[in-house]
Amino acid sequence: MGLVARTLERVKPSPTMAITHKAREMKAAGFDVIGLGAGEPDFDTPDNIKQAAIDAIKRGETKYTAVDGIPELKQAIAEKFARENGLDYKPNEITVGSGGKQVLYNALLATLDPGDEVVIPSPYWVSYPDIVLLSGAEPVIVDTNLEDGFKITPKQLEKAITPKTKWFIFNSPSNPTGAAYTRDEIKALTEVLLKHERVWVLSDDIYEHLVYDDFKFSTPAQVEPKLKERTLTLNGVSKAYSMTGWRIGYGGGPAPLIKAIGTLQSQSTSNPCSISQWAAVEALRGPQDFLKDWVKSFQSRRDLIVSMLNQASGLSCPTPEGAFYVYPSCEGAIGKKTPKGQAIETDEDFATALLQEEGVAVVHGAAFGLSPFFRISYATGTEALEEAGRRIQRFCASLS
Ligand SMILES: Cc1ncc(COP(=O)(O)O)c(C=O)c1O
Repeated sequence: MGLVARTLERVKPSPTMAITHKAREMKAAGFDVIGLGAGEPDFDTPDNIKQAAIDAIKRGETKYTAVDGIPELKQAIAEKFARENGLDYKPNEITVGSGGKQVLYNALLATLDPGDEVVIPSPYWVSYPDIVLLSGAEPVIVDTNLEDGFKITPKQLEKAITPKTKWFIFNSPSNPTGAAYTRDEIKALTEVLLKHERVWVLSDDIYEHLVYDDFKFSTPAQVEPKLKERTLTLNGVSKAYSMTGWRIGYGGGPAPLIKAIGTLQSQSTSNPCSISQWAAVEALRGPQDFLKDWVKSFQSRRDLIVSMLNQASGLSCPTPEGAFYVYPSCEGAIGKKTPKGQAIETDEDFATALLQEEGVAVVHGAAFGLSPFFRISYATGTEALEEAGRRIQRFCASLS
């Protein structure tokens, strides 16, 4: 009998975290590395949010709380859902976890049985299929393509649903492509979902606030209210408020699902950090105007990197609607060799050689389920981004 459980053998560690770690290690060893692998904003958490946490510590908010969130935070989340999404969730329809990742994990583990299927469009956030595998269920991957803007079509969704389908995981704006669905595009998908009454919808809205060029964000439960009774609307403070380390995520959904998530959480981590919860209350209720500046800054970085990538030989990069990622194709580099004679046969070869030759860390597309592409996170300073763009151009030009 081996040490590691059979279920865990189906799962791999997060490749994005592995790349970030490798880039950090190389930097610590003295190499000149530009890390474009991390999925977190480079801004600092706003001061009013930090102050709320300090105040909470001073008030002695340092004990166990209700497992799935303090009433004040649930209230602030209910107000947020009503204000920004036109969604009405009662406190017993809201759960708070240690990051959106925990809410997602608990929702899937609490509802999936072996043999169940989960439809996931690719490229996907790396955790979706692995959490499904951990639950003993089966991910059903649907490949999107660059021509469709990396968006699943209603036809593809219809084809992927079987009597075993339990969830459809929907992520807009998307990690890793930055693609965001318009209201009409969501409506077309909800038409399909309405026909399949047993299928639940998990809408991962974590990049909601990071949309550009006046794009208007929408979420399935808002676009099709009839779906709300089988939708989990997932969100969190990590990306919009630059609070990745505070670990607060939340979800709105039907009370029985929220209760099941709470049961699982009560037997694993218990409540999310009490201090972080008070910081999240301030994030959701405090001033939101800083976001406009962040979005402006992200948009100009996106435009910069997209333009530089499109000038690199063999690369082609669409302009995404949101998040802080771009997902260029490196098809034109496949089959070539580096000046040292290293063959570029896959997007992983491309990313590895780019790190070795030019010290630029990106994540290969295979990690997100769609090749030959790679993901760049442009949540980094403009100067570093420009330098990375130059290095990528030089690297591509050196291939023959
Ligand atoms: C698409 C997506 N969903 C959810 C999360 C989870 O974020 P957190 O657990 O920090 O709330 C991430 C983080 O990278 C993400 O990219």
